[in-house]
Amino acid sequence: MSTTDAARFWDGVHTNRPTVADPRPNARLTETVAGLPAGEVLDLGCGAGGDALWLARQGWQVTAVDVSSVAVERLTRLAVAQGVDGRISARRHDLRVSFPDGLFDLVSVHYLHTPLDLDRAGVLRSAAHSLRPGGRLLVVDHGSTAPWSWSRDPGVRYPTAREVAADMALDPRTWTVERAGAHTRNATGPDGQTAEVTDHVLLVLRTA
Ligand SMILES: C[S@@+](CC[C@H](N)C(=O)[O-])C[C@H]1O[C@@H](n2cnc3c(N)ncnc32)[C@H](O)[C@@H]1O
Repeated sequence: MSTTDAARFWDGVHTNRPTVADPRPNARLTETVAGLPAGEVLDLGCGAGGDALWLARQGWQVTAVDVSSVAVERLTRLAVAQGVDGRISARRHDLRVSFPDGLFDLVSVHYLHTPLDLDRAGVLRSAAHSLRPGGRLLVVDHGSTAPWSWSRDPGVRYPTAREVAADMALDPRTWTVERAGAHTRNATGPDGQTAEVTDHVLLVLRTA
């Protein structure tokens, strides 16, 4: 599968979703970041951009990347509309091919699930290496998906947060797992419908 195929697949997913003027940030992001001082953040697989816009409004300097140019262009337009374009750099980037440059205080990876080939452990290792000492990597994965999700394969088993951490094989002298667990929440769908879903949440601190 080429990078063109990945872009085409995800452009199709994003094109089929209506543009939302103010996409919601993810709950695990807002609860985790509430206690952190604003700095530089990298949002991997930013999608509709709710997290990037919220972070920018909290004073963070945001680099947001996605393989879909549809997603990146929508986020760029929303950043201008919300007056936070000076705080958001949204770029098309295929994480299967390369990793964004720079050092960050926070790397946020929410639901970076794809049916296409992706070396997730490699991407997450690169994310951990792109942290400044004192910086954090927040990885939030599905444990289960809502009925309106784009991915409704009942055969899919999502790895636990501990399994994700184990796959990353980080040196404990440099990185500490602060949080690894499964948490349920009530999710609200695009038409206001609700469902209980499980998130797998991993928070890693770079100590050195
Ligand atoms: C399930 S969506 C999650 C979007 C967003 N983080 C959220 O929480 O709503 C996964 C996102 O990852 C992006 N993505 C998938 N494969 C990618 C890749 N190889 N490189 C960069 N982004 C990718 C998709 O375009 C999509 O926006």
